[in-house]
Amino acid sequence: MSGETVLSVEGLSVRFGGVLAVDGINFTLRRHDLHCLIGPNGAGKSTFLKAISGVLRPSSGRIWINSQESTRLPTHRVARLGVGIKMQVPNLLEQLSVEENLWVAARCRHSAFKADQIVESLIDRIGISKIRSSRVMDLAHGHRQHVEFASALAIEPSILLLDEPAAGLSETEVNELSMLLRQLKKEMALLVVEHNTRFVRMIAESVTVFHKGRILATGSPDQVFQDEIVRNVYLGRDAAAWHSAPPVTFCQFKT
Ligand SMILES: Nc1ncnc2c1ncn2[C@@H]1O[C@H](COP(=O)(O)OP(=O)(O)O)[C@@H](O)[C@H]1O
Ligand SMILES: [Mg+2]
Repeated sequence: MSGETVLSVEGLSVRFGGVLAVDGINFTLRRHDLHCLIGPNGAGKSTFLKAISGVLRPSSGRIWINSQESTRLPTHRVARLGVGIKMQVPNLLEQLSVEENLWVAARCRHSAFKADQIVESLIDRIGISKIRSSRVMDLAHGHRQHVEFASALAIEPSILLLDEPAAGLSETEVNELSMLLRQLKKEMALLVVEHNTRFVRMIAESVTVFHKGRILATGSPDQVFQDEIVRNVYLGRDAAAWHSAPPVTFCQFKT
C-alpha cells in the first residue's frame, strides 16, 4: 500500500569544515513506507537524519515535510510538522521520570490535556507501565531504548526517524521491535538507520545504501544485499555469508 509523499529531500548537503558528510541527496518517503538506510560507519546516515529533523542545518538543498518546506526550521518546528526522531545517542532528560519525559515530548506539539492522553496510551502500547515513575538515569539499556522510542512517538509523528534502534537489544527485543515497527507503518512513514542486517531483512521493504555521503544503491532488501558492489563496500566482512546469492540484475545505482 503506497501513500502520499510525506518527505521530499532535494540536493541535500551537510558540510563539517572540510568534510562533506551528506553530498547532494535526493530522497522521497511516502506514508506507509518502511525504508531502511544502511552503509558503513561515517557514510553520513546520522547526519542525514539530523538534517531532516532540524538538529543540523543543511549547507545546501531543500526539505519538505508534508508539503511544507522545513529546510531551515529549528527542531521543535520540524517536530510540529510531524517528524519524530530517535537519535543514535541518548536524548532524554535524565533527572526526570519516564512519564515526565514522554509528557515533555508530547507537549512539543500538543495541548497539556492531549499530552496526558498520549502519555497513557504510549505507556500501554510500549509496555513500560512498571517503569513509568522511574528516573531515566536509573534505567537499564533496554528500558532506556523503549523510552527513547516512546519519546519519538509522543508527538504522534507522520514521519518517524530511527537511528540504530536495535543497537544493544537482545534477540527477543529485536523481534518485538520489528513487530512494533510493522504496526506503526500502518499509521506513518518510517526511515530506519540500522547496522543489524538480520533486522533490516526482517523489517525493510526498501533499502538505501549510503556511501561517502551519497546514495550508492536503492532497491528491495534482496536486490541490495545481493549486489556485488554493495557487498564489497558495506558487507566486506560478511561477504562469505552471501556467496550463495544469485547474481544481481536489479539494483538501481544513483549517480
Ligand atoms: N558534529 C560533527 N562535527 C564534525 N564532523 C562530523 C560531525 N558529525 C559527523 N561528522 C562527520 O561526518 C561524517 C558522517 O558522519 P555520520 O553521519 O555520523 O555517519 P554514520 O551515521 O553513517 O556513521 C563522518 O566523517 C563524521 O566524522
Ligand atoms: Mg550514525
